[in-house]
Amino acid sequence: MAAQSDSWGTRVGLILAMAGNAVGLGNFLRFPVQAINNGGGAFIIPYIVCFLLMGIPLLWIEWSMGRFGGKNGNHSTPFILDTMDPKRRFWKYFGVFGIFTNVAVAAYYCYIESWTMSYVMHSIKGTFRDLSQLETAQFFVKYVDIQQSTTGIPYEAIIFYILCLLLNTWILSRGLKGVERVARIGMPLLILFGIFLAVRGVTLGTSGANPEHPDASAIDGLNFLWTPQYDSLTNPKVWLAAAGQIFFTLSLGMGTVHCYSSYVKYKDDIALNAVSAGFMNEFVEVVLGSSIVIPIAAGFLGIDWVKENAGFGMAFQTMPYLFQNWGPAIAMIAGVMWFGLLFFAGITSSLAMGTPWMGFFQDEFKFTRKQAAWSFGAITLIMGLPTVLFYNEGVFDEYDYWAGTVSLVIFALVESILFAWIFGMKRGWHEINRGGDINIPHFFKFIIKYITPLLLLAVFIGSVFTPESNDWNAAFQSLFSGNGWPLDNTSLIKMISNAGYKQQLAAATDETVISGLKSRIFYTNAARILLISFFTGISILVYIAYKKRANLKIQKL
Ligand code: ALA
Repeated sequence: MAAQSDSWGTRVGLILAMAGNAVGLGNFLRFPVQAINNGGGAFIIPYIVCFLLMGIPLLWIEWSMGRFGGKNGNHSTPFILDTMDPKRRFWKYFGVFGIFTNVAVAAYYCYIESWTMSYVMHSIKGTFRDLSQLETAQFFVKYVDIQQSTTGIPYEAIIFYILCLLLNTWILSRGLKGVERVARIGMPLLILFGIFLAVRGVTLGTSGANPEHPDASAIDGLNFLWTPQYDSLTNPKVWLAAAGQIFFTLSLGMGTVHCYSSYVKYKDDIALNAVSAGFMNEFVEVVLGSSIVIPIAAGFLGIDWVKENAGFGMAFQTMPYLFQNWGPAIAMIAGVMWFGLLFFAGITSSLAMGTPWMGFFQDEFKFTRKQAAWSFGAITLIMGLPTVLFYNEGVFDEYDYWAGTVSLVIFALVESILFAWIFGMKRGWHEINRGGDINIPHFFKFIIKYITPLLLLAVFIGSVFTPESNDWNAAFQSLFSGNGWPLDNTSLIKMISNAGYKQQLAAATDETVISGLKSRIFYTNAARILLISFFTGISILVYIAYKKRANLKIQKL
């Protein structure tokens, strides 16, 4: 997607594509689970604060960095960062995150996206019509489990995964016009489907209560989410979860926003565009994302069931079963709308993930658009197949942790420091406001310079040193009484050493459990080696590109 050959067609198209980049599976699958697991109403206030103090400022930072990079012919983060501080050479290697993260996330993200394609088909076929709740859940378990397949290969999962990648690649090969067209069709449909399902969810009331779940009420689900609880404000665990959700949902710290924005004309507005896309994402997440899975599940199974079972699987393992309560015709329509909505949410995000890779190869290695798109499809397939084949061995989770969580925070922290402290807030503020259609309140200058980087630093430190059981009070007491800082197995430090698995292994006596844990440790380490190799590979390419640029400069002299 080199600058000279590609640009956004219209402003509406740009905003829809940018909103589509943000609106994704995270809005409908991740947000409800995070909200439930972090106390419902206890989660919402930290979430909104993180959106205002971290989300919006980072959107402005990334949009302006992107547009600044585009002016200089750079469409991926290594050389966008490089041109912001030409004196120091190391920034471009931090920029590697902006390519690495996208491919690594796309690798497993497209797998979920491919489930939605398959589930649309099964909803139409009526596969779930006569299945019990358990059988519907098992359908998914079998779908992703290679052990359960007689051949050892989950054919359906692989076929849909490849189909999904082919579709993404084909659209990408048509350039920004293709991306824009998908956003123009997908976003309105997604909102329409979302409203239909949300209305059913919110108006379900107690009509879904049956002898098995006499207390079930959709209203309980909504109350749980929307009754604010102020005590959470002092709980770092909730803050970390809220910040993590803001990153993922707005696609911050990824490199996609920079890339999309690098195709915006230098004199065009970004101040209002960034806010519009951000608020559109929040509408979809907070209004629609919270009005579907939780109220529908609470309406049929009760809020206690939801609290106990809240997880990513609910969308695929429970929703198709619950839809059957509405009779075959509406069950089919609801299934198509639910999985169709997830599909549009997913594809508008995964397309964005392809563009930084394409921008890099077009800028630095003169790939044509088609070559760049197909090379993205190929590398995503190579990186993604292990997540498909070894889903149950934890490869998928490992990618999600390192690429979809840790990398985002590291990159966002680095870019906020570069922008506010190295590039400089004076120039930075000027960049954000250039051509702006709104006047950004001046206090955001202060927020971008001090608050956002400090919050990011706090999130990073909090993730590295997460205390045992997430109990910060107890951890500080232990520290001050000279007993050290007790780390939780989910802290980054313990994750690196696989402490959680090792602890389980030490306690296990059953041979099957022991061999299962050993295999999980093996696949977890293998996934890490693959991710590190990939990161190193891109760093080498960035180095080669840098040398090529240097030689070109010498030749011109
Ligand atoms: N922002 C995208 C999502 O929420 C990645 O799924």
